[in-house]
Amino acid sequence: MADLFAEKAEDWDQRDLVRDLSAAVSASILEQVALNETMHVMDFGAGTGLITSHIHPHVGKITAVDVSEAMLEKLVAKEALKGKVSALCVDIIETPIDARFDLIVSAMALHHVAETEKAVRRFAEHLKPGARIALADLDSEDGSFHAEGTEGVFHSGFDRADLQALFERCGFQDVRFVTAHTVEKETGSYPVFLVTASRR
Ligand SMILES: C[S@@+](CC[C@H](N)C(=O)[O-])C[C@H]1O[C@@H](n2cnc3c(N)ncnc32)[C@H](O)[C@@H]1O
Repeated sequence: MADLFAEKAEDWDQRDLVRDLSAAVSASILEQVALNETMHVMDFGAGTGLITSHIHPHVGKITAVDVSEAMLEKLVAKEALKGKVSALCVDIIETPIDARFDLIVSAMALHHVAETEKAVRRFAEHLKPGARIALADLDSEDGSFHAEGTEGVFHSGFDRADLQALFERCGFQDVRFVTAHTVEKETGSYPVFLVTASRR
């Protein structure tokens, strides 16, 4: 499978939009979820580890999951993450792993997964009962967030009510949304939600 983030990985961490977004999403996760040092966290679509970098001081360990070798190479090279963070280059939607987590965090990865329901069911399967998810992505937009023809973009954001119903159908409760950030681009303003929920 082609690595769709191979080129982007080179300057990902230098992009102001990306840095501002991951800082805001991480702050929102810290506000919405009580973290502690016993937790084993999965960062789904971890990329270069920007979200992981913000939250790793507050948890026990993080498994950073991504399908892009290039993005994970950048994560693995970060000295500050060594010891607490392990990287896993696997599509857990297609190939689940034999591990259950206390929390799944994710930023801007769900719109890159074709089958949203399958993804949310996989998240539930990878969580212990009562464990949480905190996932950020775009609210429904007109398709202008990504440049035309960008490969691997399957959704122009998500409708909050539809996503809430989907989470509830797939084994989650206490589904709540906050607006974590708004991305300003020449093409428009794009709100980013953080949805939190507990595995039943
Ligand atoms: C927009 S980037 C966000 C990266 C990071 N979360 C951040 O906020 O900087 C989306 C990431 O999701 C990853 N991704 C796409 N589909 C995936 C899948 N099925 N499983 C795991 N990661 C996936 C991509 O490789 C990419 O690194």
